[in-house]
Amino acid sequence: MNCFLIAAERGTARVQALAELAEGLGYTVLYASDFSALHRDRAFNEARRPLVLVPEGQGAVEGAIQLARAEPSRAFVVYVADALAPELYKALVRSQSGEWIGWGNATQELRDVTKGLGVTEPADRNARIVSFLPSKGGVGNTTLAVETGVRLSSRRKLPLRIALLDLNLQGGTLADALDVEPRFDIAEIVAQPERLDEQLVDVFTSRHTPRLDVFACPPRRIALGDVPPAILFTFIDTIARRYEAILVDLPQAWLPWIDNILQGSDAIVLSGGATVPALRVLTQSLAHLETLEIPTDRLAVAVNACETDLFGRIAHRAQIERPLSGRSVFYLRRDAATADGALDAGRSLFEIAPNARLTRDIGRLAEWCVTAAKLA
Ligand SMILES: Nc1ncnc2c1ncn2[C@@H]1O[C@H](COP(=O)(O)OP(=O)(O)OP(=O)(O)O)[C@@H](O)[C@H]1O
Ligand SMILES: [Mg+2]
Repeated sequence: MNCFLIAAERGTARVQALAELAEGLGYTVLYASDFSALHRDRAFNEARRPLVLVPEGQGAVEGAIQLARAEPSRAFVVYVADALAPELYKALVRSQSGEWIGWGNATQELRDVTKGLGVTEPADRNARIVSFLPSKGGVGNTTLAVETGVRLSSRRKLPLRIALLDLNLQGGTLADALDVEPRFDIAEIVAQPERLDEQLVDVFTSRHTPRLDVFACPPRRIALGDVPPAILFTFIDTIARRYEAILVDLPQAWLPWIDNILQGSDAIVLSGGATVPALRVLTQSLAHLETLEIPTDRLAVAVNACETDLFGRIAHRAQIERPLSGRSVFYLRRDAATADGALDAGRSLFEIAPNARLTRDIGRLAEWCVTAAKLA
């Protein structure tokens, strides 16, 4: 996803800060020395919905307004300055393709104004993105992503082509859960981004079944923070053409661009546990998702490893439900023997214990993903 920064000089602190900010939001920053250079830029002319950042400077605001008016449904222009005269602001905003943000709170404001632009440009890709976000470690996030992937790829009616993408770059367990060799060597693209092409995607793919591929990193020392977000987004866009859905197993550690993945997701499963402390962090994660304005119908809460009573009913359900009211909540029962048995065998629950109640609980969640992400 490209963003075009208008800057006669790239070296100034403000231009650099703005570029870093855009990169943090998942954009690849391309520079144009002025508006005429921008109009000559092929990448700009071919972009479907380019973002143009215009830091204050001579003629900058007039150029920004002119561009926003000239390209109302294509380019989106963000003018960055500490102050803007009301009539100029009106002109920019009335174009419906322009906004003004201040330097002081540029991080938040840029995120807000670019929110609707979409991270992964939906029209250019096929795959829906379903993100699995853990509210804490060890709550079964990977298990839920894997089981959903296995189910959706092996539905009798309308089986889907699915990619499981493990973004736990250090110590992810998704490949192990399906007993495949992890081959997604992200360090290689970080070192040479220009190498990312269809052939390299083939090399990175671990095939579980003809309809289910895994992208998981081999154990190598690379921290998520060392991976430029733009590389991840470009990778997602590249593989998106091959699948109907990409299920993303997100790490628990938060990084700013995770919010962009969430905002670009067609559905989100927030996973958590049923104990009092687990519910507390779950509601904290929900509060965070609220600040991202994730539509309610795109979000499900999966309360995993719930105790059950003698009749197999979820224990303390009312207590769990209270802080989650108004949400789509899925309860998944505790069944360590089945869950661990599947992990140890490197096979899915769906395969080894299709009739277990936990497997059926997860089945309901998987069907929610189909509906929420409009997969069928
Ligand atoms: N419903 C369940 N009942 C009992 N145990 C479960 C259940 N779901 C998952 N587990 C077990 O919990 C453990 C952690 O599962 P998993 O790796 O899926 O969690 P995670 O949230 O991805 O963890 P991590 O933070 O390490 O990524 C595993 O041993 C798994 O078998
Ligand atoms: Mg995990």
